[in-house]
Amino acid sequence: MKDLRTDPRAAARTASRIELSDVGLSIDGRAVLQGLSFATAEARVGIVGRNGSGKSTLSRVIAGLVAPRTGQVRINGHDPARDRRAALREVGILFQNPDHQIIFPTVIEEIAFGLTQMGQPRTDAAEAARAILARFGVAHWQDAQVATLSQGQKHLVCLMAVVAMAPGLLILDEPFAGLDIPTRAQLTRYLSHYAGSLMHISHDPRDLAGYDRVIWIDKGTVRMQGPAHPVLEAYVTEMTRNGEADDLADLAR
Ligand SMILES: Nc1ncnc2c1ncn2[C@@H]1O[C@H](COP(=O)(O)OP(=O)(O)OP(=O)(O)O)[C@@H](O)[C@H]1O
Ligand SMILES: [Mg+2]
Repeated sequence: MKDLRTDPRAAARTASRIELSDVGLSIDGRAVLQGLSFATAEARVGIVGRNGSGKSTLSRVIAGLVAPRTGQVRINGHDPARDRRAALREVGILFQNPDHQIIFPTVIEEIAFGLTQMGQPRTDAAEAARAILARFGVAHWQDAQVATLSQGQKHLVCLMAVVAMAPGLLILDEPFAGLDIPTRAQLTRYLSHYAGSLMHISHDPRDLAGYDRVIWIDKGTVRMQGPAHPVLEAYVTEMTRNGEADDLADLAR
């Protein structure tokens, strides 16, 4: 657990450089991301946007799990889709849907797996996994079958698995979805001490207040970006107007 990036005494957060230029990606012939560009070197980046705007797809592109059809992605100078070794070292991702992430039958195996992939001996990885379970107050889960956990509990297992690897850039896709109030508070506290960069995708502007930068994604491109307050204010104003216009049909486009 030496490398857990949660030491509150850490003098400064280490920010990852995330650079996207003119990124485009089509799925089934439909443009999901297009002309998407931004560059950040801040430690706390929030992403907002409507359902279907491309946020989760963007997170996969940044993690290097999907290569864009056009444009360039660089994380600390590395192309994450081509340089998989660098991407695994530098970027961790919590998927929106835990069922896309979980591959092992028991909680301890799920958490230890990433650490063994990073080269830790099996016994060290198991010890580190137990430490992170204890830190989140769920030491008794270690031998639980993941399949028997609730959706919110599975989400927390995925989160513990990714933070155990202490990536320099931690991408969280709706991390609070399905978590109860105490777990959410515990996670918020934990994240506030995270010494690496966070890219936090959320529908709830309250989650991102105080972030260094917020990027609003709309129809696969950047609609607005800047300090949290003005971007979130503009976003909420438009979302409220959309809600009143009852345009749910837009989701089908
Ligand atoms: N594997 C896929 N196959 C087909 N279409 C996809 C796939 N992945 C994403 N899409 C489409 O791309 C668009 C963007 O999806 P994405 O999941 O990135 O949106 P999102 O902003 O994360 O939405 P939400 O807020 O609902 O999580 C959607 O229209 C979706 O239907
Ligand atoms: Mg999503």
